[in-house]
Amino acid sequence: MRDAQPKAIQLSDYRAPNYQVETTHLRFELFNDYTIVHSKLELVRHQADATSLHLDGQELELISIELDGQPLTAERYVLGEESMEIHGLGERHTLAIVTRIYPAKNTALEGLYRSGGMYCTQCEAEGFRRITYYPDRPDVMSVFTTEIIADAEQFPVLLSNGNPVSETVSDGKRHAVWLDPHKKPAYLFALVAGDLKVKEDRFTTMSGRDVVLKIFVEPQNIDKTDYAIDALQRSMRWDEEVYGREYDLDIFMIVAVDDFNMGAMENKGLNVFNSSCVLANPATATDAAYQRIESIVAHEYFHNWSGNRVTCRDWFQLSLKEGFTVFRDAGFSADMNSATVKRVEDAKIMRTVQFAEDGGPMAHPVQPDAYIEISNFYTVTIYEKGCEVVGMLHKILGAEKFRKGSDLYFARHDGQAVTINEFVSAMQDASGIDLTLFKRWYKQAGTPIVSATTKYDAEAKTLSLTLRQHTPDTPKQTNKLPVWIPVQLGLLDANGNDMAIQVEPAAAWTPESQVLHFKEAEQTFVFSGVTTEPVVSLFRDFSAPVKVQFDQTPTDLLFLLKHDSDGFNRWDAGQRLMLHWIEQAAATSEFSLAPTEREALASLLADTELDAAMVAYLLTLPSEAYISEFSDVVDPLRIHTSREAVCQAIAVDLSAEFKDCYLRLCSSDEYAPIPAQMTARALKNLALSYWARVTDEGLEQAQQQFASADNMTDQMAALIVMVNSGNEAVAAPALTSFYQQWQTDPLVVNQWLSAQAGSSAMGTVEHVKYLLAHPAFDWRNPNKVRSVISIFANQSLVNFHREDGAGYALLADAVIRLNSSNPQIASRLLTPLTKWQRLVPTLSQLMKAELQRIMHQGNLSKDVYEVVSKSLG
Ligand code: PHE
Ligand code: ZN
Repeated sequence: MRDAQPKAIQLSDYRAPNYQVETTHLRFELFNDYTIVHSKLELVRHQADATSLHLDGQELELISIELDGQPLTAERYVLGEESMEIHGLGERHTLAIVTRIYPAKNTALEGLYRSGGMYCTQCEAEGFRRITYYPDRPDVMSVFTTEIIADAEQFPVLLSNGNPVSETVSDGKRHAVWLDPHKKPAYLFALVAGDLKVKEDRFTTMSGRDVVLKIFVEPQNIDKTDYAIDALQRSMRWDEEVYGREYDLDIFMIVAVDDFNMGAMENKGLNVFNSSCVLANPATATDAAYQRIESIVAHEYFHNWSGNRVTCRDWFQLSLKEGFTVFRDAGFSADMNSATVKRVEDAKIMRTVQFAEDGGPMAHPVQPDAYIEISNFYTVTIYEKGCEVVGMLHKILGAEKFRKGSDLYFARHDGQAVTINEFVSAMQDASGIDLTLFKRWYKQAGTPIVSATTKYDAEAKTLSLTLRQHTPDTPKQTNKLPVWIPVQLGLLDANGNDMAIQVEPAAAWTPESQVLHFKEAEQTFVFSGVTTEPVVSLFRDFSAPVKVQFDQTPTDLLFLLKHDSDGFNRWDAGQRLMLHWIEQAAATSEFSLAPTEREALASLLADTELDAAMVAYLLTLPSEAYISEFSDVVDPLRIHTSREAVCQAIAVDLSAEFKDCYLRLCSSDEYAPIPAQMTARALKNLALSYWARVTDEGLEQAQQQFASADNMTDQMAALIVMVNSGNEAVAAPALTSFYQQWQTDPLVVNQWLSAQAGSSAMGTVEHVKYLLAHPAFDWRNPNKVRSVISIFANQSLVNFHREDGAGYALLADAVIRLNSSNPQIASRLLTPLTKWQRLVPTLSQLMKAELQRIMHQGNLSKDVYEVVSKSLG
């Protein structure tokens, strides 16, 4: 907590550390009310002439400090509020420090804390400093030995990084020792102690080494571990096959914890997971949860190379590990399921959440140059835009050279803490392609806007395509330069087939990937041999994270929706067409489908060749958040009403087709979380939602499905249909019976909370307050806070944007309440309030007033202060 204004940390101030820590020896004594931490560091000078050492420390009680076996006298060190400075040092020293900490009182969930009955740690980014005094920065890398001493009965399981060395019990105390042979920064340290059950399996690596895999959970969850093990084994194999990366310890462990600020953490050899991102069985987890688990298990595992073996020099390089690792897990998910569906899902996140961030007060480059609180920079820009930037490199280099580049990167920097620049250099050196210009993607914030115009010359049989790009100003960054934009494209002939492409300048075209390299503010490309006027398909596969302004008629869009050989652009054309419909509904307050449009949707529904999940996405209207990003001034009520009108029209016009589709896809096969079934369920439940919207028969079918479902995907989909029906007599009894059935399972109860809080029909301010007072809610648990408050503010948009500002006040109250107990969560909740400048004036003022109310609280955490002060400008 702070009084004075916190200072920003600047990338330009980076200095290498004075000392390295060769070895770190930790001994934890876990008592009921407190923990004693003994640390012994072997220091070695790293900067010539350095004589002082900076250590970080937060909320620590210092018990003793010794240098080379002698108590360190008071004049040799200075204690700051969050630091310790030691002076008069030489070449090598042994530093021994003892501190006392209070895990049971740690509600911030950083450092060592208690979750339920167990102890666990979270050290990224700067949590290790809450355990002991340490140079808590990623470029200090050390070999860690960890001893844990705890009550033998209460804590049968004691874990840390690396390989187990010994475990003994005497005098009722268990004493475990772990050694991690790989040098690592403190942010990858982990410790777990608890009464846990374990699910065990094995994996044989590409070179034939045997690795033990273990998932530790609280006893009641042992029947929810099968899928994570399976996903882990598939991830390990995939990383060998696609990136040539082999696992490097004898054991790999995952622990599930209920109280966790984020999704999961890649601690070396001991990943710690939010239980919602690892536990699943058919009765309790939806298909969406299974897919989330598959991708997060892979993500954390892939960090073993992209993050742990090669780590970040400083936190400005965060996207070095996160952008690359998201790119790797996206490739894995695409290979396990459908690549097109994965691309659609990722583009949706970019266009709603990331473009909004890039256009708002928290806009920052993929490599930021300043921050106040690093926890605020675990963003969609660092992760998802960072992934897109790596993806563009992949498009520019092609798969083969990209793989050479990643091989070179891992070989060159194994065991090092490096920068984004070093990653791009490896890609450049391995491919021979000059990437100097490409690096601008890392330094410039904001979403480039690309406008396209075409001119067809029937006589010359040419098509000219003129592209212009411009990146808008963002806070503290103006006058941006053009970036290197890979434009994957195709030209469709009258039958919808791709024409062969010949383009001038030829050097701007890569035929293998069908990519045009657009690098200047404005460029014209001329396609020749174009015998009839084509329909242009631009930015296939979402080939660059840009906003596109390209006027195509509804007729052309319908043509692309039907014929484009690129699945992503079929979907995109459909969304653009639907945006037209929604605009039309907003302007005339009525809407009906034209016969050709109705026909197109009907034939998609009947198309059994297409991936069913793809059909479901093709028939889903852009979300309200998505529509907002395509509006200059956001009027949530108008967006909601016009979208509902279109949704209603589609449901009415195609209700017979939706019914047929639903009945066709109902299956009596035993549930399995496999692609063939998951995609069918996605379409089946989408069809149900349309059908139930406009017929009693459909709504009765939802009730029937709810009552008889043997899996959570179908049960939850039916429940949501009933909740969204706005029919109290249908929704209320279903919610009651669902709660009675599942009240002892917190992960299911969270879904029950979200189904209500996120519903336009049910998620009113009053109802959300009722949920917050419900016994199922708990302010200390981040998953519960997200399930109710974030879901309300991000999904129940008509209620959140209520005209009297009560929705904003509810969110601000939550931020104020969590500011001191859990600043990271408080800060993350704030996102919807950062968008006030784009709202219609009355709402804008109300939202701004809530930000000001938060600002006037005083005593703001750095986390909340940074977001609120930047939002108020
Ligand atoms: N490094 C984690 C990941 O992306 C995210 C994380 C950050 C978790 C900070 C906890 C705290 O895999
Ligand atoms: Zn990550």
